Amino acid sequence: MAETIKDLINGNVTWVRNTLKHDPDFFNKLSTSQSPKFLWIGCSDSRVPATEITNALPGSIFVQRNIANLVVHTDSNLLSVVYYAVKVLKVKHIIVCGHYGCGGVKAAMSNDRFGFLDNWLLHIKDVYRKHEAALDEIKDEEKRFDRFVELNVLEQVRNLAKVSFIQEEWDAGEFPYIHSWVYSLKDGLIRDLGDKINSNSSLEGVYRFNNLNK
Ligand code: CO
Repeated sequence: MAETIKDLINGNVTWVRNTLKHDPDFFNKLSTSQSPKFLWIGCSDSRVPATEITNALPGSIFVQRNIANLVVHTDSNLLSVVYYAVKVLKVKHIIVCGHYGCGGVKAAMSNDRFGFLDNWLLHIKDVYRKHEAALDEIKDEEKRFDRFVELNVLEQVRNLAKVSFIQEEWDAGEFPYIHSWVYSLKDGLIRDLGDKINSNSSLEGVYRFNNLNK
């Protein structure tokens, strides 16, 4: 485990050496352009790095991470990343990947104060409120927490589907597909929640923008 800044710099040199051993042309090939097929929206948690857990090489995944993998429509950072990924890189798949044991989701479940973070956590509390009846029915707190993590991912997928320029892409063709995944810190495995969408049909009517091609 890296503990110091020097560890990171040394680690970088080691990584370059190992990478070149496997592919002497690696950096030459990647230095001119990128054409990732995936956009990853994940949690900032240090234990859930997109490329490592999918055994994918640099160049494979365009990434946006924040606390509890939220899609907030006033977050111009996230929306800019999504816009670039969809409109310029033309990624075929967007993956929202949450993780069991997420500290942000846990915090949002509680009534504790977390200072400035409380404002961010409100977005997750809104997810709880939407599914309050179903969640409150789960008496086992650990199971309720796990389900809340899953529901949060599903809601963020819906939030992406509400974005007008994503719907614009769907009007024009098949892509992008939006996937809902949850990663387990306990066994390192990704669970696909099976909710894969490439249309606005699962959204309430008010969120469906007029099809530009009709
Ligand atoms: Co997390």
